[in-house]
Amino acid sequence: MERKIIRALLAFALLLCLSSAIKDIQCTKYTCKTSSQNFDPLTCAYLDNSSNTYYAQACAKSTDDCFQVQGFNYSCGPTYTSGISFPGEECKSANDCHSLYTAGCKDGICVGSAEGQDCNSSRSCEPNFYCQLTLNICKPLIKIGETGCLNDYECVNNAACNVTDINNPSLNTCYPWHSFGVHDPVGGCESGISALCPYNYCQENSDTNFYCTDLLSSPVTPASQCDINSSDNCQSTSDPFFTPPFSIKGTCSCGLNSQGNANCQIFPGDLPYQAYLKQLNKWNSSEHITKCNTMRRFHKNCVKTYWSKKESDAFSFYQVQNSMYSQIQGSESCVLDAFALNYVRAKDEYNGGDDDNDDNNSGAKEICISMLILIAIS
Ligand SMILES: *[C@@H]1O[C@H](CO)[C@@H](O)[C@H](O)[C@H]1NC(C)=O
Ligand SMILES: *[C@@H]1O[C@H](CO)[C@@H](O)[C@H](O)[C@H]1NC(C)=O
Ligand SMILES: *[C@@H]1O[C@H](CO)[C@@H](O)[C@H](O)[C@H]1NC(C)=O
Ligand SMILES: *[C@@H]1O[C@H](CO)[C@@H](O)[C@H](O)[C@H]1NC(C)=O
Ligand SMILES: *[C@@H]1O[C@H](CO)[C@@H](O)[C@H](O)[C@H]1NC(C)=O
Ligand SMILES: *[C@@H]1O[C@H](CO)[C@@H](O)[C@H](O)[C@H]1NC(C)=O
Ligand SMILES: *[C@@H]1O[C@H](CO)[C@@H](O)[C@H](O)[C@H]1NC(C)=O
Repeated sequence: MERKIIRALLAFALLLCLSSAIKDIQCTKYTCKTSSQNFDPLTCAYLDNSSNTYYAQACAKSTDDCFQVQGFNYSCGPTYTSGISFPGEECKSANDCHSLYTAGCKDGICVGSAEGQDCNSSRSCEPNFYCQLTLNICKPLIKIGETGCLNDYECVNNAACNVTDINNPSLNTCYPWHSFGVHDPVGGCESGISALCPYNYCQENSDTNFYCTDLLSSPVTPASQCDINSSDNCQSTSDPFFTPPFSIKGTCSCGLNSQGNANCQIFPGDLPYQAYLKQLNKWNSSEHITKCNTMRRFHKNCVKTYWSKKESDAFSFYQVQNSMYSQIQGSESCVLDAFALNYVRAKDEYNGGDDDNDDNNSGAKEICISMLILIAIS
């Protein structure tokens, strides 16, 4: 009894402490280096502690990345590309293949463990196999309509597992990816996400069953500004099918802008997310997805290995744009060049490779670009 009270008090104290911590955040500001600031040629960003501002400049060598070095400063250095490929992905030599999960490079593709061979992780199995973790051997992925899965990665690459009972795989069936309808019952809704739901999100209803949600969006402009000190903002539009009506509790995070503004995350109904979902569907329906390691089915490195340059450039761009959308609103290009180089590069590739259309960034321009993209692919 006493322990319960102490626990409750502790939990309350923790809550107070957390909420006061949340209320004290001040976003760091990001802007271009001024002409009076002298940077070491290899410095790409430095934090002015007194004004809580990062001053940035692009690296002189376009192939360099901008890395955090000692303290809070960032420095230019060569991009790290060795050891990044998994079984089924491209390589020039064994150095390109991940040392933990592959057994070298053969005919330009990293080699994994074959059927029946030992494994500790599905990452190390050849494409079309997963690591069965009670036997620790690679087994063929479970086909659509067949039972026996415990998670999505045990199903073929364009399918996912409807987990009805986590202790009884014979009750769980593999269904095509994103094939359930809005408000269909779904099993295995983990952290509010299911790969069977059309818009990824699922939610428990008052009957304690889980259902796929409707398409939810930002109520106002996507990535609208939010108060980083408040814990009560960034809700999506709501779905009245659920009791009480369900809306996604989005996150508010600091952006890469000179005002220190924070922005809300975007939701499946927002244009940049829609563009990404459309490209994911296209990839899922292509024959190439079956050539990836099960854990890498939607990874840009595998997509790049097999899809046309045009399609894979679009895939990489929509993916990074979707994941960074709230951060990059209103960013100056020098800041993007230092802190969002993967976005800048994906965008340049997507817009036609070496065509160096340097943007004088405004959020509106980003939105226009995603609209153009949507028009182009619809
Ligand atoms: C959040 O709180 C900090 C500390 O009280 C304050 O400096 C900052 O301006 C606040 N930010 C906003 C957006 O209100
Ligand atoms: C800012 O500078 C002060 C004094 O040099 C130092 O004590 C403090 O730790 C610094 N803060 C950060 C975030 O670097
Ligand atoms: C960061 O860069 C500034 C400007 O170049 C320099 O004065 C400062 O000593 C650097 N701080 C660290 C921790 O390297
Ligand atoms: C699996 O892990 C064990 C223990 O870490 C290790 O000895 C073994 O070599 C690993 N097997 C494979 C196939 O990676
Ligand atoms: C998926 O699992 C849920 C929860 O067990 C179940 O209600 C639903 O009928 C299943 N869907 C299909 C298509 O089997
Ligand atoms: C994903 O691929 C499977 C197999 O080709 C297909 O049945 C399913 O409809 C696809 N899902 C989407 C959303 O395109
Ligand atoms: C921004 O773009 C406009 C229109 O392309 C151009 O006239 C202007 O000079 C640009 N501004 C900067 C700072 O590059």
